[in-house]
Amino acid sequence: MKVVDQINDLEPKFEALTDDQLRAKTDEYKARLSDGETLDQLLPEAFATVREASKRVLGQRHYDVQLICGINLHEGAISELRTGEGKTLSATLPLYLNALEGKGCHLITVNDYLARRDGRWMGAIFHFLGLSVGVLQALTSTEGSPRAFLYDPEERSLIEDQNFLRQTTRQQAYLADITYGTNSEFGFDYLRDNIALSLSQRQQRGHHYAIIDEVDNILIDEARTPLIISGPAHEDSETTSRWPGSSKRSTRKIMRSAKRPKRRFDRGRFGACGGNVGRFALRP
Ligand SMILES: Nc1ncnc2c1ncn2[C@@H]1O[C@H](COP(=O)(O)OP(=O)(O)OP(=O)(O)O)[C@@H](O)[C@H]1O
Ligand SMILES: [Mg+2]
Repeated sequence: MKVVDQINDLEPKFEALTDDQLRAKTDEYKARLSDGETLDQLLPEAFATVREASKRVLGQRHYDVQLICGINLHEGAISELRTGEGKTLSATLPLYLNALEGKGCHLITVNDYLARRDGRWMGAIFHFLGLSVGVLQALTSTEGSPRAFLYDPEERSLIEDQNFLRQTTRQQAYLADITYGTNSEFGFDYLRDNIALSLSQRQQRGHHYAIIDEVDNILIDEARTPLIISGPAHEDSETTSRWPGSSKRSTRKIMRSAKRPKRRFDRGRFGACGGNVGRFALRP
């Protein structure tokens, strides 16, 4: 039977569940994963769970084409949807499924507004299902460090589009089950982690699975401008000159990996979606 038909057949069963029973599905799937079931085996039930949660929380039922898009993204393909066809909602399906492994999923988008909007909007579905959501924002001129938030329905702000966002550290935002942010925030955090002097200063906890929105824009247009990071040399220059490989060589290495993002992504699994195109998933 086609996977979409399997998901649709499960709908009456999931409709009959109470909110608590539906939420309990997340723990059940995690337990089944640790007992040896695979994500592919869990996919129909996990997608049916997200669709039911979305109906209850947002009043939006994933269309069959959105289920197909979600399956594509999980399988690592690029999925093309036109403007307004609902890429934001489609991405919730593979994000939920892959987040069940507990290693964090990233949703990479093109600007801070979209990271904030989608994190707050889709955060309601994930929160309902017991998953945490982090949102990265770039630093502003009045603040000293990059900002990060966790989705929290109790949190209110005077600024409407910052409702439900509780300020936190970058590390906490990366420890969330799902983290929304822009390509440059994820990219610069990656570079900063590479020049951190101790493991405790690292922000990211690894690169398990990612979906890229507007993938043509991010991987082709944006990739023309390399992300470059540099730091003061101060008294450490003597120390670094004694490290295996001079500081000059280390800097070159960091810049090279930033200039050629494709080389890193080639090793991963790709998924995607987009009218202007899409998204992609990276599983090293
Ligand atoms: N299954 C659904 N049921 C009802 N409304 C939906 C559904 N899916 C998406 N929508 C609505 O469609 C609108 C467009 O969705 P969205 O912004 O995700 O589109 P998009 O494909 O990302 O477009 P763009 O290319 O402009 O980014 C939103 O208002 C959203 O609420
Ligand atoms: Mg969109």
